[in-house]
Amino acid sequence: MIKEKLRVGVIGAGRWSNSAHLPGFTRSPLCDVVMVCDLHKDLAEAAARKFGIPEAVADAEKVLSRRDIDVIDVVTRGGSDGHEELTFAALEAGKHVLVEKPVCHDYKDVWRAHELARSKNLKTKVGLTFRYAPAVRYMFELISAGFVGQPFVFNGYEQNSQWLDPDNPMDKRIHRVRPVGETPRGTDQRREAIAVASLEGYGAPTIDIGLSCVGSELTQVVGILSNMIPFRRPTNLDAERVRINIDDADMFIGECANGALYSLQSSFVTVGNYPGIEARIYGSEGALICRLVEEFGECQTLRGAKPDAVEFVPMTIPDRFFPPGYQPGEPWPSLFYANLVHNFMQEIVDGGEENQGNFAQSAKVQEIINAVALSHREHRWVGLPLDGSAAR
Ligand SMILES: NC(=O)c1ccc[n+]([C@@H]2O[C@H](COP(=O)([O-])OP(=O)(O)OC[C@H]3O[C@@H](n4cnc5c(N)ncnc54)[C@H](O)[C@@H]3O)[C@@H](O)[C@H]2O)c1
Repeated sequence: MIKEKLRVGVIGAGRWSNSAHLPGFTRSPLCDVVMVCDLHKDLAEAAARKFGIPEAVADAEKVLSRRDIDVIDVVTRGGSDGHEELTFAALEAGKHVLVEKPVCHDYKDVWRAHELARSKNLKTKVGLTFRYAPAVRYMFELISAGFVGQPFVFNGYEQNSQWLDPDNPMDKRIHRVRPVGETPRGTDQRREAIAVASLEGYGAPTIDIGLSCVGSELTQVVGILSNMIPFRRPTNLDAERVRINIDDADMFIGECANGALYSLQSSFVTVGNYPGIEARIYGSEGALICRLVEEFGECQTLRGAKPDAVEFVPMTIPDRFFPPGYQPGEPWPSLFYANLVHNFMQEIVDGGEENQGNFAQSAKVQEIINAVALSHREHRWVGLPLDGSAAR
């Protein structure tokens, strides 16, 4: 049992760090952020002032080499900025790790990171934000208590209009100089070569919720990726639109080991407020519909129905699923992330086996993403696990 508060180092002080991660850590009574790092030192310094963090640095090595840090949070962007490299370096340095999704683009690398963490007795957590929504936590509890009975059908979908406007730069970062040495995604123009984008965005946490709703693994999937708006401004520094061949809408169906059917769509060109995730589970004893959408001043609703009362009625989410300091009307990033961060700190402090939403879960989600991309490329059903072994 750790007696003192956990000491956290945060790498990345951009938008998501400021709106979700740092407010979450500041709110958990179990930890203190002792160092914040960003390649842009002014961003690290601004975050340090705002959140009362004693030290701001520009070099991640300074965080990785600090012996008194217990937990490292990687909240850089994926791709060439590298979640992967920093994640492996943090695990090698013996730190518990929280990282934004995707940990790595190839599910096999996520399993490697999981095995490394396990070999060092370290806990991991991935930014699968939406499983920590109070409504989803209650949904999972109801499912465990038998509310839906045997699961028959899961539908997950996401509405999100963030990139409906082709002049909204595809790369959300505010670049001061043009990035060098980055391989632009979506340059291969063939239909089979559409680069995965939306499915790794809010598709990933929706897949995650679905797996917990059906309580089973997927055994096969067939899916399609689409590029609805081909010409976009790549970055804030570009005036012209260019062809970017990425998945801005996708859909797949799957079959689960327990016989349940599974469907999912994700997109960032669909009209509606985001995150815009809806998860529906229908079973032998009942059904639940959870909606995580900012509308009418609420960012989450849960409704349930039973075979003898088939109208879906709103369900009140018990107080125990809300983080300390919850304010009604609180925006979803801080509300859901406060639960995620506190849950991770609690799992580390408790020291037991419990570690939900960890690299193993993220590897399963990433394997499904890789399988759907393969199905799209090869126009066929794809069996899971991808290595052909028996279901895990
Ligand atoms: N889980 C969710 O719901 C959710 C929501 C939004 C964003 N995200 C994820 O959060 C991550 C960050 O997104 P963002 O919008 O904040 O991006 P951002 O570009 O605003 O911030 C990333 C910051 O990391 C810094 N950085 C990059 N490499 C670094 C390195 N090696 N060392 C130190 N600093 C480094 C950059 O300078 C930048 O300031 C992305 O992976 C994104 O996909 C997740």
